Amino acid sequence: METVRIKNIGLRGVTVADTKISFIDGEQGVLLYRGYRIEQLAEQSSFLETAWLLLNDGLPDEQKLHSFSRTIADAGTLPDFVLESLKRWPKEAVPMDVLQATVPLLAISDPDLADETRGGNFRKAARLVARIPVVVASWHRIRSGKDPLPRDPRLSHAENFLWQLLGAKPDPVIARDLDICLVLHADHTFNASTFACREVVSTRAHMYAGVAAGVGALSGSLHGGANAEVMKMLRAVQNEKDVGGWVRRELAEGRKIMGMGHAVYKTNDPRALILKEMSRTLGEKLGQRKWYDLSAEIERVALEEFHNKGKETIKPNCDFFSASVYHMMGIPEDLMTPVFAASRIAGWCAHIIEEKFGDAQGKPALYRPKAEYVGHYCGRTGCEYQPVGERKAGG
Ligand code: COA
Repeated sequence: METVRIKNIGLRGVTVADTKISFIDGEQGVLLYRGYRIEQLAEQSSFLETAWLLLNDGLPDEQKLHSFSRTIADAGTLPDFVLESLKRWPKEAVPMDVLQATVPLLAISDPDLADETRGGNFRKAARLVARIPVVVASWHRIRSGKDPLPRDPRLSHAENFLWQLLGAKPDPVIARDLDICLVLHADHTFNASTFACREVVSTRAHMYAGVAAGVGALSGSLHGGANAEVMKMLRAVQNEKDVGGWVRRELAEGRKIMGMGHAVYKTNDPRALILKEMSRTLGEKLGQRKWYDLSAEIERVALEEFHNKGKETIKPNCDFFSASVYHMMGIPEDLMTPVFAASRIAGWCAHIIEEKFGDAQGKPALYRPKAEYVGHYCGRTGCEYQPVGERKAGG
């Protein structure tokens, strides 16, 4: 059989749906959520307002934002049976696995699980936005031999996340920076995890089934898992006398520099520019500038090397500087990707709703791409089957 070369491995550059949620211009370094520039949202909005924007196709008025914040606060307590289950799990479990395994438990506890109306899906989305950070924080407390902390009604969403995770009242500057990080990571068109969510719910599976798939996809090191890989790299090079030499060696030996390169951006990732500045200012505020300096030196040498090889389009992505930022906030390395999930949950839910109701293209559609078969082939009649005893050894 003649084999046909696949033109778009990994669906790269293939448009599979219309969306009204976010827009990327990878040549110009532009990212918009529902038409608003990411820079302006990072500066002026908050994560909860941004989550509302993604879920609703418009910014909320004061009353709607207040009521959404109340809904999130009210939903931010995990059912007892979820906490009891978490307490029985092995403490060394990988946090992204714990998070993925907890999503169906949250489904079981959702009174709107079977309600597939728009209102039912919006209520599920609000519960997920409220609870994913609480799962992450509670798991960290439990695995550290401590009791999960209840949310503090006087604190904001980001402040509560830090409080429930670290058990100390957060510095307002750090909490604001975390809130900005949550805004920056909340959506990014058809990235792998969002596509996974949309693909799963296109079968009419419920929102939680889609989100569990999204968490799994996010965990990989080529996607959300990259921030933890960047932190590993920073730790590995922190005692190197010659950081530049280390970077050149990695590239010469064919290894990737994690947190660099992007499937869509061919210029600066606008989120990375904001995170770079945040890493510097946070480092100066906390007397920990070394993490920014290390990151900036790796970036400088890597860009020089990429330039020499004609690969100028490879630049830091959102994971490169978020690693140092999260580290300085006190977030452990293996919780960096779960923190990403606590933000991306807003985008996942918005995309799931758009997919379920066909909001952008008029009607929902079941994803069913084609693959090019390149395996054994003996014609349309099929290869001759031989009973096991008659097969030649090793055949
Ligand atoms: N470090 C070194 N080289 C890199 C690189 C990196 N971070 N990212 C891409 N390249 C190189 C590849 O080795 C490849 O070189 P080759 O053509 O000589 O084989 C070329 O650039 C294209 O790489 P490819 O992985 O096919 O590009 P892509 O656009 O499909 O990849 C990523 C996008 C994100 C998968 C890729 O840049 C990557 O793996 N980055 C590191 C992981 C990461 O940070 N992921 C988070 C993304 S937000």
